[in-house]
Amino acid sequence: MPSNSIDSLLHESRRFAPSEAFSAASEASADLYTSAKEDRVEFWADKAREYVHWHKPFTETLDWSTPPFAKWFADGELNVAYNCLDRHVLAGNGDRVAIHWEGEPGDSRSITYAELTAEVKRAANAMAALGVGQGDVVAIYMPLVPEAVIAMLATVRLGAAHSVVFGGFSAESLRSRIDDASAKLVVTADGGWRKGKVFPLKAAVDAALANGESSVTNVLVVKRGDNEVEWTEGRDLWWHDQIEAAEPEHEAQGFPAENPLFVLYTSGTTGKPKGILHTSGGYLTQAAFTHKNVFDLKPETDVYWCTADVGWITGHTYVTYGPLANGATQVLYEGTPDSPNPGRWWEIIQKFGVSIFYTAPTAIRSFMKAGRQIPEQFDLSSIRVLGSVGEPINPEAWIWYRDVIGAGTAPIVDTWWQTETGAIMIAALPGLTTLKPGSAQVPIPGIKIDILGEDGTRVDPPNGGLLVVSEPWPAMLRGIWGDPERFKETYWSKFAQLEGEQYFAGDGAHVDEDGDIWLLGRVDDVMNVSGHRLSTTEIESALVSNPIVAEAAVVGAADEATGQAVVAFVILKSNQEHAQTAAEASALLRQHVAKEIGAIARPREIFIVAELPKTRSGKIMRRLLQDVAEGREIGDTTTLADTTVMQIISDKLN
Ligand code: WT7
Repeated sequence: MPSNSIDSLLHESRRFAPSEAFSAASEASADLYTSAKEDRVEFWADKAREYVHWHKPFTETLDWSTPPFAKWFADGELNVAYNCLDRHVLAGNGDRVAIHWEGEPGDSRSITYAELTAEVKRAANAMAALGVGQGDVVAIYMPLVPEAVIAMLATVRLGAAHSVVFGGFSAESLRSRIDDASAKLVVTADGGWRKGKVFPLKAAVDAALANGESSVTNVLVVKRGDNEVEWTEGRDLWWHDQIEAAEPEHEAQGFPAENPLFVLYTSGTTGKPKGILHTSGGYLTQAAFTHKNVFDLKPETDVYWCTADVGWITGHTYVTYGPLANGATQVLYEGTPDSPNPGRWWEIIQKFGVSIFYTAPTAIRSFMKAGRQIPEQFDLSSIRVLGSVGEPINPEAWIWYRDVIGAGTAPIVDTWWQTETGAIMIAALPGLTTLKPGSAQVPIPGIKIDILGEDGTRVDPPNGGLLVVSEPWPAMLRGIWGDPERFKETYWSKFAQLEGEQYFAGDGAHVDEDGDIWLLGRVDDVMNVSGHRLSTTEIESALVSNPIVAEAAVVGAADEATGQAVVAFVILKSNQEHAQTAAEASALLRQHVAKEIGAIARPREIFIVAELPKTRSGKIMRRLLQDVAEGREIGDTTTLADTTVMQIISDKLN
């Protein structure tokens, strides 16, 4: 099983201290921890001054007078796009490459900071001409092309907020996100490359906007796929036409530090995705600070590559905002790791001389399975720091990553954080920390984490508990879009009996004798499939929305490659039972989920069953279904209303 169990972790005894050379040249020094400990709030004020250019300096650091609603640097003003662009050009670094972009079919384009700044200025003017300004929301539904980053920066340059919707999500998912945030403009493309084919994004936008009233007045379409698209006159506009027609100059204005920067939807315990709201000054501070120190970034010489799509939080913080605020040179790759050949990622590392590489354990495990002979064909000697994110990295994958990709010497930083935390919260600092495979290790300077038992008492090693963040942090979410009650309820009510606010992350964790933190996976109905968050309830709702389904239960089952996989148990309506075979019904429903939510949610398996295990009060016992899905002996069934149900289910499946 790829996720960590306390037992196997306690036996992990390998330790990797930083080399002397690495430590000597380290960006981060130990006094970060001491100064943060002395005065946490003042520490962040210092970082905000060091990492961010303020149009108007702030005088207040943290306002926590109405928890859980925090304000950081509230009377300060900044322009986030200016921080990522203009200031580097003004500092004489306009000729530095900001983005080495590589398209899946092999086309590529390198864009300097001066060029990126010029493009964003034009795009901002083009969007302003369409009426976008402070208070508006722009939905971005794009392949991983430079225009995705340009659209994000142009939006925030105007003081508007973006809502990036991952290009793999369905028209239905896009529609609900557009509606929830009342987006005014959609930026999309005529298609993007994935696994050797062009996938049609514009068609999904058309479908999302097809029925009924919409807040959207225009759709800007980037030409990428070169395929036929339907056109709605008056609403649809080509990106390149608008950019060409736009004025080249655009002066960045300062906006308040708490101006909304973006909303990003993520899965929660209940069916409806939550729009996580992030604001400007605090977010940018922690994004830039962590990007510099956790990855030991040297902007003049490093080539950084984070493989995330901008549709996820990792792509927001560690593709767009962190690296560009720090003036880094980075790689952006449109396609999949194995297209058109299984060595594609390593070929890209070799081509651009990538020195800092940040990816997810699921990718590492799949390369591990394909064998080291593939990466060994490439020159990866430029690599000096490796990062991991999204789920616990099992020690075997950690060691393989270090040995095969990092030449046995590169430090690995395992970074724990969430869409909600906005930026990295727990990670080693590679020049300072002695690494332990499998542990995310220590809170970064200025972050306070605790592990609590259900009753709110702090648990002592080696026991496990629930992970909480016990002090506000600059990049923290400011709320759930349009739903302050859900925000309080979801994150801040679990330990309401304690003095002081505790942010409940939804993760189980364990702290060892050295104070290092080991993540143990989600404790709620959220699954983690390939480092992506999915809600069991959301997939169940998608299943029962199909007319052949009477009832459905979804569990996350351990999976060697993806960490967890979606497994569904479905009862068909009685008139359907003989209409099709179980195999046909299950194929049809897998496709149905992909259409409703997106391909990432498509169940690995669907079992058609006659009954579901329920307690006397009618609650589905997912724990027992998980036993079946993972091929384990079925656990305690004594609380079931009908104790024979599990026998019937497992008999039928065997
Ligand atoms: C959930 C957040 C943060 C960007 C990617 C996912 C899990 C994330 C780690 C890690 C163990 C991790 C947690 C967390 N997670 N990073 N290094 N070790 N677990 O963001 O979609 O908001 O998911 O991912 O369970 O709660 P997200």
